[in-house]
Amino acid sequence: MLISLEGIDGCGKSTQGRLLADALRAQGRDVVLTREPGGSPGAEEIRRLLVEGAGERWSPETECLLFTAARRDHLERTIRPALEAGRVVVTDRFADSTRVYQGAARGDLRDMVDRLHALMIGVEPDRTFVIDIDPATGLARGNARGGAEDRFESLGLSFQQRLATGFRALAAEYPDRVRLIDGSGTAGDVSARILAAL
Ligand code: TYD
Repeated sequence: MLISLEGIDGCGKSTQGRLLADALRAQGRDVVLTREPGGSPGAEEIRRLLVEGAGERWSPETECLLFTAARRDHLERTIRPALEAGRVVVTDRFADSTRVYQGAARGDLRDMVDRLHALMIGVEPDRTFVIDIDPATGLARGNARGGAEDRFESLGLSFQQRLATGFRALAAEYPDRVRLIDGSGTAGDVSARILAAL
């Protein structure tokens, strides 16, 4: 099974990925916890081009191509081999991030995103959990983390608000696959909600 965790910057999905992987391992499952952009050596190299530097470093179109290139490598080298070996893959972000960040929030590129996805990726997770939190809270957490990986946080609160709206719309667009999870409360509260939904 392929499970993805999605949401705006600072929503807590990396913590939730670890907690979900731990819970599934405690059930005796063989779990691979991975992330995007990245998750394979080549894709981690592409990650640095994407998350560091100025907000306007890439055009939205170039950005889509880089995210798709990274995802293709992640799929070929990490996700597919793990699924073929019968493992459960939990990925911190997948194609929905491109749909929302590049397709909805930065110019009207959704059609291009969908066509690139169909051509180069062609798979969807079995289940996707979108962790829904207030954009101001998420941005404050993201900025508090510091470090060089702040390219998307640097685009500001109105950008995070457009993203939150985009992720909620995805849950409505893919009701069989995408579940919206209330991201308020402790990490343990949120993790329990995800496990119950799964
Ligand atoms: P991530 O490492 O998940 O950051 P965070 O832990 O802060 O949520 O993702 C890095 C950034 O890349 C994040 O701001 C979201 C963005 N992103 C896209 O714009 N498109 C994509 O397809 C993906 C996978 C990520």
